[in-house]
Formats: sequence, C-alpha cells, structure tokens
Amino acid sequence: MSVRRLADESVQPASFAFSKENATWAKATIKKYPKGREQSAVIPLMMRAQEQEGWVTRAAIETIADMLGMPYIRALEVATFYTQFMLKPVGTRAHVQVCGTTPCMLRGSEALMDVCKRKINKNPLETNESGTLSWEEVECQGACVNAPMVVIFKDTYEDLSPTQLEYIIDRFEAGKGSDVTPGPQIDRIYSAPEGGLTTLLEETAKPKRPAAPKTVDTPVKKAAPTAPKPAETEKPSLEDKNRPAAVAKPEQPDDLKLISGVGPKLEATLNELGIYTYEQIAKWTKKEIDWVDGYLKFRGRIERDEWLKQAKALAKGGEAEYIKVFGKKPR
Ligand code: FES
Repeated sequence: MSVRRLADESVQPASFAFSKENATWAKATIKKYPKGREQSAVIPLMMRAQEQEGWVTRAAIETIADMLGMPYIRALEVATFYTQFMLKPVGTRAHVQVCGTTPCMLRGSEALMDVCKRKINKNPLETNESGTLSWEEVECQGACVNAPMVVIFKDTYEDLSPTQLEYIIDRFEAGKGSDVTPGPQIDRIYSAPEGGLTTLLEETAKPKRPAAPKTVDTPVKKAAPTAPKPAETEKPSLEDKNRPAAVAKPEQPDDLKLISGVGPKLEATLNELGIYTYEQIAKWTKKEIDWVDGYLKFRGRIERDEWLKQAKALAKGGEAEYIKVFGKKPR
C-alpha cells in the first residue's frame, strides 16, 4: 500500500469553501452532534468536501478543522488514515481501489491489479491519458468473504474475475457505471453461499436481492438512468422453449469447473439442468445463453466471461487448446 501524504503543493488550490448548498448542509450536520463534540462531524464534512472538489485538498482539511475548532493535525490524521479520502486528484469517472490484503490476494487481487495496470496506468494513483480513470491498492475493505473485490466511490464490487473488472472499468469509462449493480458479481446474495441456499431449504420464502442502498446524501455525479437489470426480472421457466437441451449424464462428464466462472455449486446446478459437456455449452445459441443467464441470474456474466469460447477450446483440445487460445491454463 502506498504511503498516504498530501498532494504536492503545486496542485494544491490556495483556498477552499463549501458551495452554498453544502455550507447549509455542513451547518446542519455539525448541529447533530452534542455541544463540545462537534469534531465528530469531521468525516462527513471531509467526505462532502471530496464530493464537491473530487479530492481532499489541504485547504479543505484546514477549513474543516477551523469550522470544527480542531487542530489541523487532527483533521490531517483523519484524511491520511482513511483510504476513502483521495489526497490527490484521481480519475474523474472512476478511481478503482483494489483490495490487496491476504484473503483478496489469495483469491486473485494481483490479477485485478494487472487489469488496472493494463487498462488505466502502470502506476497507481496516476490517471489514464484522458484523466478519467485511476487506481490504487488498498488494505482490507471488510468484504473478505466475497474476495477479491474493489471499491469505486462508495460502492464495492465483489467476487471479481479479471474479465468482470475489465467490463466494470469499461462501463465507468463510458460514463455508465450505474449499469453495474454493486455487490457480488456472481450468483450470490450478499455473502450467502454461491449458487443459492445450502441450508434451511425447507423455507418457502426465497430471499430477494434488494435494490442497492442509496448512497448517503447528494452524490457527486448524477446517476445515468438505468435499464431494468436482468437480475430483477423473473426467472425463466424450466419449460421455456429456449432452455438448452438436456442430455443424460454421460459416463464421464466434462469437468465444467475448468470454465472460468464455474465453481462446484454452479457445476452441480448445470448438471441438474442436464448440461454435462463442453460441447453442449459451446453450441448454445444467443437465446439459450439468455435463458441460462436469466435462470442463474447472472446479469450477462456468461458472455462477459466468454463461457462459449472457453467451452469451445476445451471441447476441441482440452487444456492444451485452452492454453493456445487464452495464453493461460484453465483454472
Ligand atoms: S481482504 Fe479484501 S476485503 Fe478483506
């Protein structure tokens, strides 16, 4: 993790003032705390300053310290401690914070950082050419159970593969970050087991994934209107004509877990649907992909993770062909 220091004086503005609207909000926020404890408002005020300016400037830290009657060093300690505060200008569309702590590292955060280096900038905390994107490594963000993960603004994106992170970065770069639902990017509700419930199966009420919580207060950017997400649409019926044809279990079913994005639970679900071979998956039509995607509530993951391309390579020549096509071993 990088050392957290204030940005160079050459980029620091001479002064800071809250906008009229934010100044009114700041006054009301300070009033929420008991007399003598106003300093507790330092984090919300600093966050609001960041939302206004895009990062936390020295002038903002000092102005907020003055507003709360606290020494500059105390406010500076807060700003430099929490990685939620950006101490220098970052990408205007997304600043990707990749967790590099042990659980995330063991589950592939280095591959996520490689994506950031390739798509954004080889150096952390430096923007891409257009100034729209930047990235950095941060310490544990408290979502270890869904490792590996990244934070973008106030949202977390979890259970990521490099392909998924590339997709997310592309959406933010296109100004359409709100198309991506924060949270787990696999078939999992919050931190529940991947692929659905494994206990209390006699319960009839199915957990529904609620809409993402609204961000606190006014967000910096106005969210683009979002299309209804496939995850929120009804699960397609097993009788649907677009359901891929099932086959009887062969003597030696293929190891579907070699397809990146398919774990043991998902493999079992596919098997329940009569899908046992790479050949079957490789031949899915667009309508069949959409059916499986909807059935598994995948929100486009089959195409993003290139299941068909992976299955085609595995069907054609096993691991050797996979390595030829993807330049790496299947997982
Ligand atoms: S280790 Fe990455 S979120 Fe905790």
